[in-house]
Amino acid sequence: MGKKLFIETYGCQMNVADSEVVVAILQKQNYEITDSMEAADLILVNTCSIRENAEQRVRARLAVFRKYKEKRPEIKIGVIGCMAERLKEQLLREEKSIDLVAGPDAYRTLPGLLDEVESGLKGVNTLLSIEETYADINPVRLDKNHVSAFVSIMRGCDNFCTYCVVPFTRGRERSRNPETIIDETKVLFRQGYREVTLLGQNVNSYSWKANGEDLTFDSLLDRVAEIDPGLRVRFATSHPKDMSDNLLITMSRHPNICRSIHLPVQSGSSKILLRMNRKYDRDGYMDRIRAIRNYLSEATVSTDIIAGFPGETEEDHHQTLSLMKWAQFDFAFMFRYSERPGTVAEKRFPDDVPDEVKTRRLNEIIALQNRLSLQSKKSDIGKVYEVLVEGASKKSDDYFFGRTSQNKVVVFPKGLNRPGDYIHVYIEDCTSATLLGKQVHEPIDFSKSFKYRSAKQIPNE
Ligand code: 5AD
Ligand code: SF4
Repeated sequence: MGKKLFIETYGCQMNVADSEVVVAILQKQNYEITDSMEAADLILVNTCSIRENAEQRVRARLAVFRKYKEKRPEIKIGVIGCMAERLKEQLLREEKSIDLVAGPDAYRTLPGLLDEVESGLKGVNTLLSIEETYADINPVRLDKNHVSAFVSIMRGCDNFCTYCVVPFTRGRERSRNPETIIDETKVLFRQGYREVTLLGQNVNSYSWKANGEDLTFDSLLDRVAEIDPGLRVRFATSHPKDMSDNLLITMSRHPNICRSIHLPVQSGSSKILLRMNRKYDRDGYMDRIRAIRNYLSEATVSTDIIAGFPGETEEDHHQTLSLMKWAQFDFAFMFRYSERPGTVAEKRFPDDVPDEVKTRRLNEIIALQNRLSLQSKKSDIGKVYEVLVEGASKKSDDYFFGRTSQNKVVVFPKGLNRPGDYIHVYIEDCTSATLLGKQVHEPIDFSKSFKYRSAKQIPNE
């Protein structure tokens, strides 16, 4: 009889991909995944440290597990991921119910750590590596629909943005062997997956040196896109400082590379960007947006914004708002600055924007983005988009949801479709979060009112 593993994942897409690697490693040790905490022999929490409230959520969850362990003392609890890396043994001192702590580069050692736990010890490994990419491990997919999968192409980050804890919790940047990326993606396609998202903290600096050649991100993307025109390719996250024209040209050559770019700006003020160590200024960012519009006129752009970074004045804040309006972001993740221990910002810049000011600025940013997002969706009404069907809509069993190449969610009546199908949807309406439409089958007259975008029909766009 195998043991049962219950795994919960917090934070970014990278953590989701890492949990799939962890399950693969533990499956070899006879662990079987379960959806029920009650059935579990081992609970693993894959954690995030990016902001203080991310850590607080995990702490609250650990309190629930602690209570549960009082009833079932034989159950083992492990904390993995960025919080494990950041807090190390401190976690074991503070949370007595924890048996195991493993950082993002230590997952291969989980079987040995679990043996230690079985023998009554605590298992701890938070060593970071300069080469671990888990390249040879076939992740066990934990997604529900079997349409869209994450493929990790690199790990770590060397950018040291002054607010960010990631370079400390995930260590140095390293790229994964491209052959293993291509093989993994081919297998996914054969299994019926129709979309992959290539993941890395900063995918634009992907680099694989072999036989005197340096394979860069645009060449890798080219190779992945060529696997099959019926496979959609996305990637995240791009850093504006090294988003090259070459990458945009590569995208424009492959209709199946999705027309959606996540390009975190963080602030619209050059002064703040310098303090953040982002290595571009307002003009540099605007230049990249112009390049996107130039090569990929139909692409949507999403971003990340931090409100209330140390030293941010009302004028800096207004520059953020004005840049948002100029760039017309289609979507954004927006955060209040959260001081992270050990970062340059914590050491050098006092967290001097008062809480209520941070909150007010964040609210203004959110209100503006809500308007921009709605505007972006409204502009799709009356157009036909190719949609990849993903699964049942949350709201009704009679509806499916899927996504456009531009990464907008579309809800439509199920018809005879199945997840993984490509269909064409005429957009009739929208809410603030989704497009609403109906499937169209009839031939489409390009000269009529709507714009038509297809992954297959417009080669060499
Ligand atoms: N405070 C607030 N937001 C942060 N991010 C990273 N570090 C912090 C922090 N200390 C945001 C950035 C980044 C996203 C993943 O999280 O916007 O792009
Ligand atoms: Fe953090 Fe900057 Fe690296 Fe992103 S690029 S993970 S924000 S240090």
